[in-house]
Amino acid sequence: MASHEPTNDSSATRWWHSAVGYEVYLRSFSDGDGDGIGDLAGLIHRLDHLSALGVDLVWITPFYPSPMVDFGYDVADYTDVHPLYGDLEQFDQLVAAAHQRGIRIVADIVPNHSSDQHPWFVDALTGPDAAHRDYYIWADPSADGGPPNNWVSYFGGPAWTLDAASGQYYLHLFLPRQPDINWSNPAVLDAFDDVLRFWLDRGIDGFRIDVAQALAKDRRLRSNPEISPWNPNGTRFEQWDAFDHRFDVLQPEGPDIFRRWHALVEPYDALLLGETHVTDPSMLAELVPGDGLHVGFWFDPMGIEWSADAVRSTLRGPLAAMSDPRLLGWVAASHDDVRPPTRFGGGDSGRTRSLVFSTLLFGLPGLPFLYQGEELGLLEGFVPIERRADPIAQSRDGCRTPMPWEPGKNFGFSTADRTWLPDGGRDDTDTASWQRSQPDSWFHRYRALVEVRKTEPGLASSDFRWIDDLDPDVVAYQRGDIVVVANLGPEPFPLGRIELGPMSVDFASPGTRAATMLFTTDATGGSTSIDPPVLAPDSATIYRVDPLSA
Ligand code: GLC
Repeated sequence: MASHEPTNDSSATRWWHSAVGYEVYLRSFSDGDGDGIGDLAGLIHRLDHLSALGVDLVWITPFYPSPMVDFGYDVADYTDVHPLYGDLEQFDQLVAAAHQRGIRIVADIVPNHSSDQHPWFVDALTGPDAAHRDYYIWADPSADGGPPNNWVSYFGGPAWTLDAASGQYYLHLFLPRQPDINWSNPAVLDAFDDVLRFWLDRGIDGFRIDVAQALAKDRRLRSNPEISPWNPNGTRFEQWDAFDHRFDVLQPEGPDIFRRWHALVEPYDALLLGETHVTDPSMLAELVPGDGLHVGFWFDPMGIEWSADAVRSTLRGPLAAMSDPRLLGWVAASHDDVRPPTRFGGGDSGRTRSLVFSTLLFGLPGLPFLYQGEELGLLEGFVPIERRADPIAQSRDGCRTPMPWEPGKNFGFSTADRTWLPDGGRDDTDTASWQRSQPDSWFHRYRALVEVRKTEPGLASSDFRWIDDLDPDVVAYQRGDIVVVANLGPEPFPLGRIELGPMSVDFASPGTRAATMLFTTDATGGSTSIDPPVLAPDSATIYRVDPLSA
């Protein structure tokens, strides 16, 4: 598809700087062949929905051959398509069909670990002299015969499994069937260069890089300092948080891997989008300095409560820390986290809050994303215990239940009698077709938000400032000639005079400076309007202020 001349000038404008992203969890998006599992044919069939929503880039979760222990995040072959999902020809068709609609395709690459079924690991297991032994991280037992150090898996339990045949342990920061790859081995770097080129040459527009914070490990495999006593029976989060992860993640060599990839993808004008799980904005700034990953996701919003203070701090921290705010990827939802309308209290109130939060994200510099179903206001799906599929204890199934497309069998997701996960308890008003027919539906509100983001020149401006002191419950900022205001409190908030840099706007007397309401989360207008200028509780509005520079 048409693209800009690639450039190494980090201040230049790139295609993703004005894009809106969308995550497709392929297994649950749309089933084209009737086996109860989403696939590439299904995705091609539904591309018009994504065009109607107006998104520019679609990140697709892993579609590679895999034993599916972690539903594809355990890759057995990095350069092919799992037969469940289609084949390479269908992949090419997808890229072509998306490009025809002006949608770019970003593939999910999983470089931190492979499947234990990957030929590299199968070979590595044959013994210490195997050609691919050093593609993985092996260590002798500690003096007491136990694991080599105290590292734990993100999924809970020790991060080491003993290979009885050789007497050595191998490292896995996830499941034992997801052995960690050794990124200090130059052969691994070369092998992944080939993988990236394989997909770039097929026309891919970028990569979402799984677990980007953890590829490099401490070469001496030192134990992490313990912050609190490790309880092997705690939740996976409690187990992980018991340590200061000084040696297993965020190693100084990490960004070098992405510098190398940056040089490799530049001629293709492709995006490197990191899954960058960190706890602090300064860590994100280190991992995404600008010359490696083009964008790194900030995941803190997944854990916040509904309060203006929490929202303010989760947005302000990374914006202040990054060398360029366009390095930020903004998400409120993913295939790993409880859906935001449920996190924010459930029901229509939770849905409204979720849209308010997205409104704040969509005006910011950086790359905003929606996760499939977010545009329908979907609550977390209900999955009975006997239908659970996720291998980990704190199940992620509820955010992965199938997309509801239209009323009827499986809500249009699949013609199969049994789908891989149940529908989650949707009703007809949750479906895309119903919502597309209703002008004030969640779909149309998200669509309108995407459109404002893409069409307002002010929202491409680098002139950004927070508007402080309006009210403790109000979060607001100015970008170019755009003002975004959100009222997160329980009381209506009357808009009055707002100072904007050298200018001011007085919403209470619109005659002095004109302000146009471009978007409101309040479908009916409700008490959110410019005349009278009052923001309803839990609402957000985007205004264009005219003129700013008179
Ligand atoms: C990432 C993925 C998650 C997967 C894990 C291991 O966090 O988003 O779904 O389980 O990596 O690959």
